[in-house]
Amino acid sequence: MPKRSPDHPVDARKRRASVSPACPAPNVPTPLLGGITPAQFMQKYWQKKPLLIRQAIPGIEAPLSRDELFALADSDDVESRLITHFRRRWTLEHGPFAPDELPTPKTRQWTLLVQGADLHDDHARALLERFRFAPDARLDDLMISYATDGGGVGPHFDSYDVFLLQVHGKRRWRIGAQRDLSLEEGLPLKILANFEPEEEWVLEPGDMLYLPPHIAHDGVAEGECMTCSIGFRSPSTNELTSQFLYWLAERRGDDSSGGKNTLYRDPDQPAVTHPAKLPPALVERVAGVLAKVRWSSADVSAFVGSYLSEPKSNVVFDAPEKPLDERRFVAQASKKGITLDRKTILLYDSRSYYLNGEQYLLKEAGKWLPVLADNRFLDGKRFVTLSHDSCVTALLHEWYRAGWIRAGGLA
Ligand code: SIN
Ligand code: CO
Repeated sequence: MPKRSPDHPVDARKRRASVSPACPAPNVPTPLLGGITPAQFMQKYWQKKPLLIRQAIPGIEAPLSRDELFALADSDDVESRLITHFRRRWTLEHGPFAPDELPTPKTRQWTLLVQGADLHDDHARALLERFRFAPDARLDDLMISYATDGGGVGPHFDSYDVFLLQVHGKRRWRIGAQRDLSLEEGLPLKILANFEPEEEWVLEPGDMLYLPPHIAHDGVAEGECMTCSIGFRSPSTNELTSQFLYWLAERRGDDSSGGKNTLYRDPDQPAVTHPAKLPPALVERVAGVLAKVRWSSADVSAFVGSYLSEPKSNVVFDAPEKPLDERRFVAQASKKGITLDRKTILLYDSRSYYLNGEQYLLKEAGKWLPVLADNRFLDGKRFVTLSHDSCVTALLHEWYRAGWIRAGGLA
């Protein structure tokens, strides 16, 4: 990490105390949501209408300093974008960016977007903990944007539910619930052709704006600013259908019971005079094959759990360089507990659990896995009760060696 200048406005010395891992309970009013409860928020606003919350997190400091963010953008396994709007012309470049490839902070009208900051920094990950009143299965990531005066990504809409949390400096947001979502042609970015803002606010550090998908919005920095976007994905019907059918075919392909993946047959095909013509009987046979595709609700659960717990394609787990052997791992975990790695996605239902894209039967793990998944942590005491079962400790040691869990507490 490059050295941070001590007088930099996004000072990391103050930030550590401000991020609490506490997620508000469903029926407790919280400043995070403007004094209503998560249950009320979900009922009135989630997926329905925008909500501006002043001082959602009073005293918030950016989870990463400017230099730390620039260092992330310089890394190969981090998705970053640089957007400039110099002389009224939009440009978009994809990272990684060496610090000297970015315009200077004194240059106006540029912004750097760093996706998946929660995968790389414990403070960014801790910020997400506050939003776990919504299911993990819907969570996408924490994006951090840095912008200089006048910087932004232009008027646009997202297919995401998003909490836009101002963590440094000021940003002017304009939003509108317009129907016309047509885009400007010929631009490298998705910019609305006819943006019609209906409301406007300047957000200061700690303020937050919740937007459901497809609300038009434009955020312009007023001076140097940083915004955290806590995004929740809303997969489209087409995405779910294509992914499910792909998953089903793969699963059937693996099915060793045989019989399901039979070859196309046409023993009654006559000789043809128009070889390029698609035979109607062939299409009918394919229609017959497709009409026989069946799946159960267990298949759907298995698909949903596996698909939504799949880490993004650029995620690489960091296995410990000098892993503890199982005995030492158990001793350490018995003292300090175990924590899910920032990159791990662990979901469960009544029958199975889904760990980073793979399905496993819950069975005996039903006694402890839901606690680990919900808290992303198991304390030492709880671990000791598990440590009598050598199958469990062997399993957890394997997860530790893969970099999916760490021996120790929450950062
Ligand atoms: C930004 O932080 O600059 C963009 C966030 C958004 O509009 O979704
Ligand atoms: Co947006």
